[in-house]
Amino acid sequence: KSILLLNGPNLNLLGTREPHIYGHTTLPDVENTCREVAASHNATLESFQSNHEGALVDRIQAARGKVDGIIINPGAYTHTSVAIRDALLGVGIPFIELHVSNVHAREPWRHHSYFSDKAAGIIVGLGVYGYKVAVEHVALNFEERGE
Ligand code: DQA
Repeated sequence: KSILLLNGPNLNLLGTREPHIYGHTTLPDVENTCREVAASHNATLESFQSNHEGALVDRIQAARGKVDGIIINPGAYTHTSVAIRDALLGVGIPFIELHVSNVHAREPWRHHSYFSDKAAGIIVGLGVYGYKVAVEHVALNFEERGE
């Protein structure tokens, strides 16, 4: 199985950004752990982070027909991006929406997501541990794509 891990804006600052909310683990650490978890289930994992909406759209489009599942933390684009939502729906790849923090315990405008009603599942508020859970779930439970 092939998994794509996507992280949106400011997640490159994971580990140093508001650590009381997002913890002390860095994005490279998260990505390495995810790759190892995927490998332990005979899956491969590629990861991509961008602060740019269009770059995330391009990466999603490039995954069409090549990836069985996407794990996406859209960062602030969660609350704003019709374009990323449309890209995910356009390629038809099932995805997990993930947030490190519990967005529902934060500002009211973080409660709405452009992704949740289309996600196969949502992981919220488990800290960076959520990434591991997401990879395991995709590796074990998502369908392998047909040719
Ligand atoms: C986030 C939550 C978003 O509201 C915020 O804009 C982020 C990170 C999270 O992982 O908790 O950048 O997606």
